[in-house]
Amino acid sequence: MKIAAVRGFRDVLPEESAVWQRMETQARASFAAYGFSEIILPVIEKTELFARAIGETTDIVEKEMYTFTDRDESSLTLRPEGTASVIRAYIEHSLSHREPVSKLFYIGAMFRRERPQKGRYRQFHQIGAEILGRDDPLIDAELVLMLNDFFTTLHLEVAVDVNSLGDAVCRPRYRESLRAFGESKLAELCENCHARLHRNPLRLLDCKEPGCRQAMADAPILTDFLCAPCRDHFARVQAYLRQENVSFALNPRLVRGLDYYCRTSFEVIAQGLGSQNAVCGGGRYDGLVEQLGGPAIPGIGFAIGVERLAMLMQTREHHLSSTPDLFIAPLGAAAESQAFSVARRLRHGGYRVELESSSRGLKAQMRRADKLGVRYVLILGENELAAGKGTVRDMQAKSDWPTAIDLALPAQTMIEAVRNVNS
Ligand code: HAM
Repeated sequence: MKIAAVRGFRDVLPEESAVWQRMETQARASFAAYGFSEIILPVIEKTELFARAIGETTDIVEKEMYTFTDRDESSLTLRPEGTASVIRAYIEHSLSHREPVSKLFYIGAMFRRERPQKGRYRQFHQIGAEILGRDDPLIDAELVLMLNDFFTTLHLEVAVDVNSLGDAVCRPRYRESLRAFGESKLAELCENCHARLHRNPLRLLDCKEPGCRQAMADAPILTDFLCAPCRDHFARVQAYLRQENVSFALNPRLVRGLDYYCRTSFEVIAQGLGSQNAVCGGGRYDGLVEQLGGPAIPGIGFAIGVERLAMLMQTREHHLSSTPDLFIAPLGAAAESQAFSVARRLRHGGYRVELESSSRGLKAQMRRADKLGVRYVLILGENELAAGKGTVRDMQAKSDWPTAIDLALPAQTMIEAVRNVNS
């Protein structure tokens, strides 16, 4: 009988491991530019560390940890994340005495007994980074900036969602208001949310059940409850990000699945990953070092999911290696500016489009299209352009088609029209 791998645990075969290596190399280079050094941590810790750091009422601690009793009766856990271990090591080795600010990164396997699905495994890997010793808004912005640099150098298009989770001064008021709101919607909430309501009302915002989502749609938002120092801190983080042209979206419903967060929190979301679309999550955790028995030192960090990042890289590389869906050949300056907009719209719709410069003649453009192996070329010549249309040339049949294509069509309709032009 053949023995298969354990459910939720997977092999990374050579074609994928090559992608992992490229990601790791890039992470090391991007993080080094910001002054980070690597910390290598054990995969097993005392269970108590995670229970105290992540929070007793989180899904991770309640039901997802791989916990076992060792021969000496101690309770041990395969790490479900890296932050708790970094802080344990930071306190244990008194790193705060060596440097006022520690910037540490780690790469390694994490374990959570979640329901396996695309992009969600029971053993997965993270590339994480933590900064201990600074609580000013500049450092929050710098961390997001570093992430942004990392994704940009990998040519990955991602969206950054940010929120402020407030602090011990303002969050309790919010929690109470959320609980009261939840009570008023009790009949519409799922069983899990009934339990969350009392133990951890912030989790109500995180439930994926459509009924709960609908019931919580008008729930009070944390932003309205922030105290003045938290509001000011968050405004300054955003100002730094805007100054550096980092695009981000404010998401007042972003709560994160671990309890240690306060103030700035963020997630990096990518298209094409299905429902497990968060490729990175992180935020500030100012009370955590103290809570774990260390000095009152603030911290902030993030962790990138390696498997999800690899999926994005593979999709992108696949796209790069395949031929364009359409080649646009503009003739003359007016056509070129029109072609510029059409190309952008089609690319935005997910199509691969190659746009040639109008300075090259039609013949030269066709030679290039041929070389790229493109089947269809959209020619924007002066005649049809006045009517907002373009001609299609089928490079296989080597002929122009009499039906002109309306350039104002939505991306998908236009591509379908181009492909159907000869049928
Ligand atoms: P997290 O949001 O639980 O945060 O995980 C970070 C990332 O790890 C997720 O965005 C996702 O890409 C990946 N990930 C999580 N669970 C799975 C899974 N079951 N399968 C595949 N990928 C997964 C943390 O772990 C925090 N320690 C991050 C942090 C560091 N916050 C501050 N510092």
